[in-house]
Amino acid sequence: MIGKLNHVAIVVPDLAAASAVYKNTLGASVSEPNDLPDHGVTTVFVNLPNTKIELLHPLGDGSPIAKFLERNQDGGMHHICYEVDDIYAARDKLIAGGARILGSPEPKIGAHGKPVLFLHPKDFCGTLVEIEQV
Ligand code: CO
Repeated sequence: MIGKLNHVAIVVPDLAAASAVYKNTLGASVSEPNDLPDHGVTTVFVNLPNTKIELLHPLGDGSPIAKFLERNQDGGMHHICYEVDDIYAARDKLIAGGARILGSPEPKIGAHGKPVLFLHPKDFCGTLVEIEQV
């Protein structure tokens, strides 16, 4: 059902410092920061030949990643995102298999303008999983 790894998201305490690590130390192609007020995050994309790394930093009050950063002050891996062809078909199959959707089972438009859902980490080996219809 799942297709390509779309991105791995890493929450970071300092977006400029994290960008510099990926750009200078690791020699990757790194985007400018992009504020997404609707999602409560600022993102920087690291474009790799086969996938992306999404560096996330909280933006504004009530950011969904603020608590994560409190608990992981050096930052850390937040979620992985797999591509699916049909998010409704994927959702229904996941629910039928006993997986839990976080929040509303209705897909939301994610940080890349595509429909996404997040799946409970307890059902997926302790990893928060995002599925995105591409
Ligand atoms: Co994501």
